[in-house]
Amino acid sequence: MTEQWSEGYITGVPYTYGYYNELSPAWMRFCLLMRRFTPPPAQDYAYCELGFGQGLSLNMHAAAGAGAFHGTDFTPEHAAFAANLAGKSGGACNIYDDSFEEFLERDLPAFDYIGMHGVWSWVSDDNRRHIVDFVKKNLKAGGVFYVSYNSMPGWGAAGPLGRLLALHERIAPHTSHAARTRDALAFCDSLFEAGPAYLQSATGLRERLENLKKHSPDYIAHEYFNSNWDTMYFVDVADRLAQAKLRFAASAVPSGNISGFGLTDRAREFLSGIEDTVMYRQMQDYFENTQFHKDLYVRGGVALTPQRQRELFLRERFVLLRHPDDIAYTMNMGMGSITLDKDVYKPVVAALAAEEFAPKPLSAIGEAGGLTRGLPDLLGAIANLITLGAVSPCQPEEVARQNRSRTRACNAALDEMTLAGHFFVSPVTGGGVSVSRLDQLFLAAPLSEGGDAVKHALEKLARNGEKLLAEGRPVEDEQQAARMMEETYAEFRDKRLPLLKALDIV
Ligand SMILES: C[S@@+](CC[C@H](N)C(=O)[O-])C[C@H]1O[C@@H](n2cnc3c(N)ncnc32)[C@H](O)[C@@H]1O
Repeated sequence: MTEQWSEGYITGVPYTYGYYNELSPAWMRFCLLMRRFTPPPAQDYAYCELGFGQGLSLNMHAAAGAGAFHGTDFTPEHAAFAANLAGKSGGACNIYDDSFEEFLERDLPAFDYIGMHGVWSWVSDDNRRHIVDFVKKNLKAGGVFYVSYNSMPGWGAAGPLGRLLALHERIAPHTSHAARTRDALAFCDSLFEAGPAYLQSATGLRERLENLKKHSPDYIAHEYFNSNWDTMYFVDVADRLAQAKLRFAASAVPSGNISGFGLTDRAREFLSGIEDTVMYRQMQDYFENTQFHKDLYVRGGVALTPQRQRELFLRERFVLLRHPDDIAYTMNMGMGSITLDKDVYKPVVAALAAEEFAPKPLSAIGEAGGLTRGLPDLLGAIANLITLGAVSPCQPEEVARQNRSRTRACNAALDEMTLAGHFFVSPVTGGGVSVSRLDQLFLAAPLSEGGDAVKHALEKLARNGEKLLAEGRPVEDEQQAARMMEETYAEFRDKRLPLLKALDIV
């Protein structure tokens, strides 16, 4: 049943426990620096997240960061979960369950950062107006706004499929959301079987439906069952945000800020004739058939001189998130897949891996990594490694040191509260790091005694009624389970544990 306060947004279905690094101050700063904008401060800032879901991102950033954090989500279960986590981690985190309209009336500080992930496309147009008004009222001059949304033309072909799922909600009986998800997918299947001309309008629609079936019912419900589900053109979002005196500054996907990267020569040639930034990005969307935008907008962003940009960058620190053996040097871009030049990337990764993976300033990475081609190449490599999830920008060293105990408390609370979530916060990066369920169990065991960690993890799984999976099936044989656990532990000890230590999670 739609409750009045929810304004067509699906409620009563717990949202997934996700972490989004684009919302992290260090990440936003890196992307802005790439495009030569003066970033907001790295400490003593005010930060706000709108529609925070279960609030993992907000809480991790508040535990690790040096600022005042605020956020709202009108689903009271979400706000309660997030407030509980905040209480346990002890960060300066103020949680509200206001609607965007109500939040507009609150007396809040002027923010350096406002972020919002996975919200813009899923709320009514009235709510988008409240969001623009909120940013207009509360973002400082020089501040940054992060927004993500489903975009056109990438959703052009499959947009009607998304609408179909939402339409099914109108006729679905009020059963459990799991049953409604199953019925909605079956409804799409039966429509496709009946041969609508729509199916011939684009390739890959059946595959897309099959892929959807692999997601959890909770995800599908939140993604598609809202009465608001919109896809927008980049140019229309830029126009709406201009009303809050915002202008597009950078992509929140670091590789998206490397001029021409991922485009064919003909696409680059076409785009080279376009000077207007908004028009350029919109045309780029046609080439890449962009489906999801992650963008950073600034209010009065001040441009840096190339010299100042260089100085600031050389001081920024970076850290590996993935063991060098586990980095795949391939990127899937809108116009096809790209294999990265290992001669450029491997020395950079080796420099980052030196001294037991300790975080390092770009200046040191450049020297050790044989920086012969200059800063743009090194930055391009770092940006692509960040996009691949292999590297992270860091927050200032003194902030990492100050907030260590808060991140420890936050991780203990995450471990206890989110069986479904697999993220811990690092004081080094100031953001979340994905940690698999098994690695989480090893971390909770006495690490000095290898054998015990395996035993501990097996016992804990048994106590929780969880099973290891092999080829998607639960492993019933105890000996096979023990062997699998031994192998996973050895990989964890040799590859992931040293990284977790460098990230100061252990
Ligand atoms: C699709 S979820 C995204 C959650 C989170 N940002 C994430 O990406 O994991 C959208 C969130 O916005 C919240 N929301 C929707 N409409 C809202 C409104 N009018 N005011 C405040 N929160 C709202 C919902 O409760 C939900 O948690």
